Amino acid sequence: MKDQQLTNAVVASCDNSATEYGLIENGAVVVKNNTVAWCGNSDDIPEQFRSLPTRDLNGHLLTPSLIDCHTHIVHGGHRAAEFEQRLQGASYAEISAAGGGIVSTMSATRAASVDDLVESALPRVDALVAEGVSVIEIKSGYGLDSTTELNMLRAARKIGTLRPVIVKTSFLGAHAVPADYKGRADEYIDTVCIPALELAHSESLVDAVDGFCESIAFDTTQIKRVFEKAKNLGLPVKLHAEQLTLSDGAKLAASYNALSADHLEYLDEAGVKAMAAAGTAAVLLPGAFYTLRETQHPPVDLFRKHGVPIAIATDCNPGSSPVASLLLIMNMACTLFRLTPEESLSGVTRVAAQALGLSDRGIIAQGKQADFALWNVAHPAELSYRVGFNPLLERIV
Ligand code: NIG
Ligand code: FE
Repeated sequence: MKDQQLTNAVVASCDNSATEYGLIENGAVVVKNNTVAWCGNSDDIPEQFRSLPTRDLNGHLLTPSLIDCHTHIVHGGHRAAEFEQRLQGASYAEISAAGGGIVSTMSATRAASVDDLVESALPRVDALVAEGVSVIEIKSGYGLDSTTELNMLRAARKIGTLRPVIVKTSFLGAHAVPADYKGRADEYIDTVCIPALELAHSESLVDAVDGFCESIAFDTTQIKRVFEKAKNLGLPVKLHAEQLTLSDGAKLAASYNALSADHLEYLDEAGVKAMAAAGTAAVLLPGAFYTLRETQHPPVDLFRKHGVPIAIATDCNPGSSPVASLLLIMNMACTLFRLTPEESLSGVTRVAAQALGLSDRGIIAQGKQADFALWNVAHPAELSYRVGFNPLLERIV
């Protein structure tokens, strides 16, 4: 972006040190060297920047570009038949136990080439990009063998070169036990998952390490072995935890200073406290809550009480959250989880950046990357309020 002054905008800086939303009416942002040099009231732009070219934003809303910090957007096939089964009363856990769920997507993913995976993911990526999303976290976890786990991560990296988004990858080899290792989860962790992680890391394919700690997946001692390896490799960790049962995953994640623990519907106060002490963000996934018709709400009040930062994300995946709209997720987070529209916006900007370990974006403030979304709305609450309506004018980057 050329050096310039962006003036006459409603700026929602999402900087929590400022007012609600970090809102600046009649706001302006000065961009130099692709970073924010100054942000404040249009009337107060410092003299030294006044000679820069000016762009009038016509009173529109300017926010940081959005961040989707938890997706499984790369995968083979679809699970529309399971959607039908669930409508007839089968539960997610029952379908999983009968060989469906994650393991059924595994077969479709193994059958796909890297190019197939990229091609099938791009329309979903484009839907996010059209909503002002600039960063997408993409997990492996549907390969469950070394070759396919690496192929998924290669596809994720390739997406980052084909679209104007930053891709952050997470290795999720500990997502499910494949059929040929049924009853031998420990062996799967030691002989498949951990060696695949080492291999993926040696190809620089891994930005973080994730797992699924759950009664239908892996227990804390198995996840701990994966986290130990991550620690040895110098990689940050995160965890799918407490989605279906209280399994003490969030506590384990916190003990490894995890960037985030995700889902968390069944988390108790002890787990919330552990996350608070470790500075681990809560990533809430209302798309999965909605799709699985879950009734147990994540402990939002406890997160607020203990100061655990809350992010939200699409969890875009073929089973529990076939959702490719972050704006819809913002609405769901408010309506289903009672987040405020402000928490919802900070959940896809400032806190989502924290959940990915990104310190150069997520707020509009001096020194941060100049990467913004410009919206045809007058107030930031409108982003969470409407459903099925995308008011993005442009991403300014
Ligand atoms: O985040 N919980 C585990 N993993 C995914 C579900 C993936 C799937 O069902 O395919 C999730 O909800
Ligand atoms: Fe997930």
